Amino acid sequence: DRGMSLAGKHIMITAGPTYEKIDPVRFIGNYSSGKMGYAIAEEAASRGADVTIVSGPVALKAVNPRIKVVDVESAREMLEACERIFPSCDTAIMCAAVADYAPAHPADRKIKREHDDLPVIELVKNSDIAATLGAMKKPGQRLVGFALETDNEMSNALHKLKAKNLDMIVMNSLRDKGAGFRTDTNKVTIYKLDGGELHFDMKPKREVASDIIDTLLSL
Ligand code: C5P
Repeated sequence: DRGMSLAGKHIMITAGPTYEKIDPVRFIGNYSSGKMGYAIAEEAASRGADVTIVSGPVALKAVNPRIKVVDVESAREMLEACERIFPSCDTAIMCAAVADYAPAHPADRKIKREHDDLPVIELVKNSDIAATLGAMKKPGQRLVGFALETDNEMSNALHKLKAKNLDMIVMNSLRDKGAGFRTDTNKVTIYKLDGGELHFDMKPKREVASDIIDTLLSL
C-alpha cells in the first residue's frame, strides 16, 4: 500500500535558509524559500511518516498534523536541533540552504553608519550539518542530501554524496530555468550510492517530492 508506505517511520527534514546575525537588525542569509523541504515533509506525512521539519525562517506553514516544526534561525541552532533529533530518526533529508559562514562577533547593538571607517565583518566557518549527521549515522539510518550546482554538476554532486556519507543526493542545476530557489517547480537528478542515477523532468515541487520518496524507498 503505497499510501501508508512510511507508516511508523520518523523522518527529519531540514528546510529553508539560515540567518547569521550581524547585529540585532541585520543578518547574512540567502534566497531559500523552504518550498522543497516543506513539499517533501507533506509528501512523507501523507504516506504515513511522522515528520520533523527543522526549519530556518520561512513564510510557510505545515498542513499535515503528522508534521512537527522545530524553528531555528542560525546554522548553529540548526546543527544543535539536528544532532538532538537525528538519533531517533530513520531518515534525514537535508534540504536547507545553510549559510557557509557566520559573523564571528555579532554586535549587541545596531551598527551605526556615522563612522569614518567602513565596517569589517569577520566571518567564521559554519559546521557542515549533513556531514556531521553522516558521521553519526547508524546502520539502517538513511541520509539524503541536496546539491544546488551551477557547473560541473555531476562531479560536484558525486563528491558530496561520498564526502558527507549520504545514501543519495538530489541535484538541481541553477542552469535549468524553473529549478532551484523560490520556484514552484524543480528539475532534479538523483544519484544513489550504488551508482544508480535517475533523471526527472521539470515538475511541481510536490511531484518532485514524491519522486524523491519513491527513490528513497527503493534503496
Ligand atoms: O556542500 P554543499 O553546501 O553544496 O552541500 C549541500 C548539502 O549539504 C545540502 O544537503 C545541504 O542541506 C547540506 N549542508 C548542511 N550544512 C551545511 C552545508 C550544507 O547540512 N553547513
